[in-house]
Amino acid sequence: MTNNKIITVTLNPCIDKTVEINNFKTGMVNRTLYTRIDAGGKGINVSRVLSDSDAGSLALGIIGGMQGKILEDILTGENVCFDFIHGSGETRTNLKIYDKITRITTDINEPGPEITGNTLNLFYEKLICVLPNARVLVLAGSVPPGCDTSVYASIIKIAKEYNVKVILDADGELLANGIGAVPAVIKPNIHELENLCKKKFTDEKEIISSLKDISNKGIELIAVSLGKDGAIFYNNGKVIKAKSLDVNVKSTVGCGDSMVAAIAYASVNNFDLQMLSKTAVAAGSLTASKDGTNMCRITEALKTAANVEIQTITEI
Ligand SMILES: Nc1ncnc2c1ncn2[C@@H]1O[C@H](COP(=O)(O)OP(=O)(O)OP(=O)(O)O)[C@@H](O)[C@H]1O
Ligand SMILES: [Mg+2]
Repeated sequence: MTNNKIITVTLNPCIDKTVEINNFKTGMVNRTLYTRIDAGGKGINVSRVLSDSDAGSLALGIIGGMQGKILEDILTGENVCFDFIHGSGETRTNLKIYDKITRITTDINEPGPEITGNTLNLFYEKLICVLPNARVLVLAGSVPPGCDTSVYASIIKIAKEYNVKVILDADGELLANGIGAVPAVIKPNIHELENLCKKKFTDEKEIISSLKDISNKGIELIAVSLGKDGAIFYNNGKVIKAKSLDVNVKSTVGCGDSMVAAIAYASVNNFDLQMLSKTAVAAGSLTASKDGTNMCRITEALKTAANVEIQTITEI
């Protein structure tokens, strides 16, 4: 546990179950051609990307029941370190039905078990045990029913007492409330940024001017991901725009999570803004080139980072 410099938090993890069906029809008996299960949840995805990292990563969170045990088994098989609190109820399963003929995916997502009793307190106790040896804390994804949308803000305040840098990747009230506690880094995608700013952006200038406003609240780095169009990074008045790598896109699931993992790695290793941007965009692009819920590993992103084209923009 001593070398786990990057801690990830997934309060509402899941098992992703993907089935392939020829010609999926509702209201009929459908037969599967292929089934696959993966560990899911945004913080867990970040830990998966970092599983071959020399910085070490530890996944924290709340799991439950048999599905929770299956999740732990999958992560053990992937060399991901974890230390979960076992709460009540079953860890949720998110079903993805892929129709091989139409190539359409239907998602059926469970909300996850409600957090009850002392579970959240046990989580905080665990967090406080690991924070003294950590450098970066990643808070990512949705939270389970029964959990307040100020939960990330509370965790950020605790992390700051231990001088641990927080990277927040969330949407809606979780992001807005989290920003209130001033994390070091946020990584909204463009839709999450528009939600936060309550406006649609029509050009890059508008995006950058909104980043300036958010950064004035004390946030060191804002990374806005733009899907296939790459990302914009804003740090202390410096703006870098990075282009995605030209990859054969197979599945964009987890691209943003890969980018967050790379930012966490770059923070622990004190990369400058240029190197951080290149590594982050390389990680996202590499994950886009992988099937289903497969994610890149940080070593691959580091090897490819030099190929990412960046442009420094003079702040408006
Ligand atoms: N179609 C694509 N082609 C190439 N690179 C991509 C593509 N989609 C995403 N990426 C890369 O991944 C990064 C993050 O992607 P995106 O903006 O989709 O994140 P996100 O919406 O947060 O994803 P997530 O579903 O993981 O939360 C992008 O900045 C880009 O580098
Ligand atoms: Mg995302």
